[in-house]
Amino acid sequence: MSDTSAITADSVGAIVSAALVEITAVQDLASLKAIRNTVIGEQSEISKLNGELRNIANEQKASAGALIGKARGELNAAYAARESELFAIEETKKLAAEAVDVTEAPTSSRFGARHPLSLLQEQISDIFIGMGWEIAEGPELESEWFNFDALNFDADHPARAMQDTFFVDPVDSHLLLRTHTSPVQVRSLLERDLPVYVLCPGRVFRTDELDATHTPVFHQVEGLAVDKGLTMADLRGTLEHFARQMFGPEAKIRLRPSFFPFTEPSAELDVWHPGAKGGARWVEWGGCGMVNPNVLRAAGIDPEQYQGFAFGMGIERTLMFRNGVLDMHDMVEADIRFSEQFGVVL
Ligand code: DAH
Repeated sequence: MSDTSAITADSVGAIVSAALVEITAVQDLASLKAIRNTVIGEQSEISKLNGELRNIANEQKASAGALIGKARGELNAAYAARESELFAIEETKKLAAEAVDVTEAPTSSRFGARHPLSLLQEQISDIFIGMGWEIAEGPELESEWFNFDALNFDADHPARAMQDTFFVDPVDSHLLLRTHTSPVQVRSLLERDLPVYVLCPGRVFRTDELDATHTPVFHQVEGLAVDKGLTMADLRGTLEHFARQMFGPEAKIRLRPSFFPFTEPSAELDVWHPGAKGGARWVEWGGCGMVNPNVLRAAGIDPEQYQGFAFGMGIERTLMFRNGVLDMHDMVEADIRFSEQFGVVL
């Protein structure tokens, strides 16, 4: 504490010198801020001296006030100067630390990984492109007519029920989220010239809860061939080739009689999968059959002249048994560690 009777050039000078020493001594902005209050703020010696002004004789007030005012100005200026000096030093250090040499060769880089469903979809497409087939697409928001009526589904077929199908408001728009890729059959026949050999991979939708083996949004691949003189032998040969390309040369297929409104006869397709987890075994893979004449008629084709075969299977299901994926959640959660297991293919 300063002596109240002595607001002199010397005593003020001593306070200024001491404060200046402190200000110059600090080496970083944080420490400077920490001493602010005691060198120039309310707790500083110079502020305390200022408080003494009211106790001294009136005739000394002016000169004492001037001394203190000048000292304060000096200290504030010194503080500000040190502040910008330290700021500049710290900024330079920071920039140096963050500097990037853009010419330096990278030591490591992290790639994303494409989703195995996309890879599988592409692999399937390539097999068929290799046989001269074309890739066809159709809308996910589909009309009820293409999804059901044109495919020979009865008006009261259970698959049309609300509990399986996402119908879209307003109901009289007769729009829905396609429940399978089969509507692309009739679309392709209407859009293309015969003969038609098309493969349609795509997303489909059903009102299922997500669990280990179901998901409301999944993928299917649909195949359709319409030409003169096609028989079930062509269907079988095509599927056998497909299975061997997908699962290796030891893969076999078998067809079991079944029913689909849009094929007649219809069959369930099983594949003998040599490398499946749990050893080689028959696995249900999809559905297939000869295109029902009513479907050809819906597309304006004369079934006396043209015949067709069709097949369809789930891509998630194929990935599950081919690669031993046990839980559907892994396929929808987009965790890169899951995708990376299938290789980083660009
Ligand atoms: N659309 C059928 C489904 O979603 C699968 C299917 C079966 C497609 C037989 C076909 C077929 O082309 O011939 O279950």
